[in-house]
Amino acid sequence: MTKILMVCLGNICRSPLAEGILKSKLPIPNFMIDSAGTANYHTGDSPDRRSIAVAKKYGLDISHLRGRQFSVRDFDAFDIIYVMDESNYNDVVALARNNADSAKVKFILNEVYPNQNYNVPDPYYGGNDGFENVYKMLDEACSIIADTLN
Ligand code: 4NP
Repeated sequence: MTKILMVCLGNICRSPLAEGILKSKLPIPNFMIDSAGTANYHTGDSPDRRSIAVAKKYGLDISHLRGRQFSVRDFDAFDIIYVMDESNYNDVVALARNNADSAKVKFILNEVYPNQNYNVPDPYYGGNDGFENVYKMLDEACSIIADTLN
């Protein structure tokens, strides 16, 4: 069982999309996929309606997901922790207890553009275009992740 955690800031825009997209590409019994936010602003909240809408447009239902905050226990519970941007990376690595914890943390877009540490832009304050753009970036990255792990 490979356990993968997707992390962004609020856990309502980018990481629930990444969770839903990767789940759709991997056989459920062999993988555990979850998402979390570095902040606690949206604990218990549904994904942003714009993330729900863009997922629905591509045939995925993420409306049942609920926000939660990343915790140090996630280093024990997951094998790979994908972050969306540099600020998520710094926030998660700051909680690492040792090198094994920090080695689990990876920029998700490095799957597409190795070693570049590119950010998935935060779409929260933009329009619907931002969510479409984020969906396409995450879909490309998750296809590569799924091909590598399957
Ligand atoms: P996310 O987007 O990190 O992709 O979930 C955000 C959601 C909410 C906020 C910031 C970013 N916020 O400030 O409430």
